[in-house]
Amino acid sequence: MVLFAFFAAGCASETINQPTTLKGAFKHDFSIGVAVNQRQFTGADTNGVALITSQFNSISPENALKWESVHPRPGADGYDFAAADAYVAFGERNHMLIVGHTLAWHAQTPAWVFRDENGRPLQGTNAADRALLLQRLHDHIQTVVGRYRGQIKIWDVVNEALNDNESIADTNLLRQRSPWVRILGPEFIVKAFEWAHEADPKAILRYNDYSIENPAKRARLIALIKMLQAQHVPVTAIGSQTHANLTWPSPQLEDEALTDIAKLGLPIHITELDVNGSSRGQRLQSADVSQNALATGGNQPTQAAAVQEQLAAQYANLFAAFKKHRDAIKLVTFWGVTDADSWRRGGNPLLFDGHWQPKPAFYAVVQQAK
Ligand code: G3I
Repeated sequence: MVLFAFFAAGCASETINQPTTLKGAFKHDFSIGVAVNQRQFTGADTNGVALITSQFNSISPENALKWESVHPRPGADGYDFAAADAYVAFGERNHMLIVGHTLAWHAQTPAWVFRDENGRPLQGTNAADRALLLQRLHDHIQTVVGRYRGQIKIWDVVNEALNDNESIADTNLLRQRSPWVRILGPEFIVKAFEWAHEADPKAILRYNDYSIENPAKRARLIALIKMLQAQHVPVTAIGSQTHANLTWPSPQLEDEALTDIAKLGLPIHITELDVNGSSRGQRLQSADVSQNALATGGNQPTQAAAVQEQLAAQYANLFAAFKKHRDAIKLVTFWGVTDADSWRRGGNPLLFDGHWQPKPAFYAVVQQAK
């Protein structure tokens, strides 16, 4: 109730009975999603739940469907679906568009996946090792996607597989440090999409990555997707994470990137939106968690109001670009509910503060809907 009164007060054109909501403001443009954590989808964070159900019409699991969460141990009995089941039940109860994140990623995947039974690292030069890793990927995807067939409508099938070197001179298409890439090469991407499609033929299957605004990575994304399309691999949407900061991407860069990516002919989803407001986070365009942990804070209390304004301005820029490309963009998902929930919490990167109150950036975003 307190929240609703606040929204109404903040937006003069709304009556007290019709609070401003993100999902309402953009209902003619795209769905509005949010990444949720365990305390939220189990109901423990009641204030968080109130915001999720009132403001958003789609959810992504911040961690609950990653390999280490859902499949911590090897073998058919190595799955643990308790959290994932609660996540999906929460989405169904609240009639939300439910996203799955993520099936094949180099991070948050247990070490055993890339080792044999004796702990020896699997080698790409060894045919039996390759077959074993492909078998594990197959079983994981069939089991996890199959369990939620018809319930999880969108999957991040492959996450962050592209080389993220900003130099265009680096001709490696894929991230060489990923064990998936080292052991299997591009085959793991092809197979992951094919097996996900087999397990749920109706699901939307995304390739998801960060910093695809930057020209070198964008060119690699386009090359990868064209390669997959040429082989009739069922990739059916592009996920652009959009972990932004106060000045990056510029309006022009965002517009250019969306224009280029839309030419692939697939829907675009903004999958992990946030804007790092910390002074130490401004040079960072990576979604790597360890780098971001260092790059938070640094703002002087006297700068707080100015940073709020910059954050609002950057969100307005981004939503202006999303609106312009509304024919291609089907879903915009924020990576967390409040600043206190965020992986970049020191950068206060979201639309709601740690007390669940809307920030100036919230109103700046809603303004762009008009
Ligand atoms: O699982 C342990 C738990 O047992 C322990 O109690 C707790 C104590 O800190 O740590 C837990 O693990 C943490 C996990 O989140 C769950 O909370 C990890 O240390 C922490 O590193 C992990 O961070 C997640 C990060 O991915 C890891 O890569 C963030 O919450 C999550 O927001 C972030 O999300 C990624 C996307 O999946 C992909 N794109 C980039 C984005 C940001 O890094």
